[in-house]
Amino acid sequence: MPLRPPQGYSAVQIWLHWIIAGLIFFQLLVNDGVSDAWGDRADGERIQEGLGWANLHIGVGVTVLALAAVRVFVRLTRGAPPAHRDKPAPLIWLGQASHVALYFLILAMPISGAVAWFGRVDDAADAHEVLKNLLIALVALHVIGALGEHFVFRNDTLLRMLARVPAGSRSH
Ligand code: HEM
Ligand code: HEM
Repeated sequence: MPLRPPQGYSAVQIWLHWIIAGLIFFQLLVNDGVSDAWGDRADGERIQEGLGWANLHIGVGVTVLALAAVRVFVRLTRGAPPAHRDKPAPLIWLGQASHVALYFLILAMPISGAVAWFGRVDDAADAHEVLKNLLIALVALHVIGALGEHFVFRNDTLLRMLARVPAGSRSH
């Protein structure tokens, strides 16, 4: 971790956040094909349906894993701007804890999926499904949090994840 936290997110952090978010939404919405293909693969049968979609799901998922690894590295080396202190301490804590959980999930989702698919491990497929439910709940909470920061606390939390904070400008 750097000695002093940065004032805003870097362009790399912002791009990675939105690209990963987009790919995650895609994975959450488009997964019927991989589920069909997995049904056959788990039974040790030849895949009848969904192989093309399954390959897309796997390709996108592995891309998320690679981007998430870069993202965690940048987060650990560069840091992130501190949370605004304009709200009750439990809310600040909830925001920070959910960020850690989201980082965990963008790594754990593709890893569990890959272990299931390549290793034909049923338990990993079950874990993939449980983690999916956790991910959906956390993303919902995260979006509510981001909108709450913007519209209720009226700070620049959302804006600083949309564009770089110019050097020298201050956020409260
Ligand atoms: C960002 C990463 C990923 C997300 C968000 C994601 C999301 C999902 C979702 C929502 C499902 C449907 C589960 C259900 O019907 O309840 C699914 C199924 C599946 N995914 Fe992923 N996935 C990701 C990465 C991967 C990767 C990298 C692989 C394999 C290399 C993979 C393999 C599978 C398999 C085998 C299934 C079928 C499991 C089953 O039906 O029990 N996923 N995934
Ligand atoms: C799957 C989707 C998403 C994932 C996995 C995700 C993950 C994350 C993570 C891990 C952070 C913490 C960054 C850090 O401080 O190091 C973060 C920050 C942030 N996210 Fe998301 N996010 C997602 C979607 C969204 C969406 C849809 C919005 C907008 C409504 C959003 C708005 C924000 C904002 C404003 C921050 C900055 C918070 C702050 O500076 O305190 N995110 N996101």
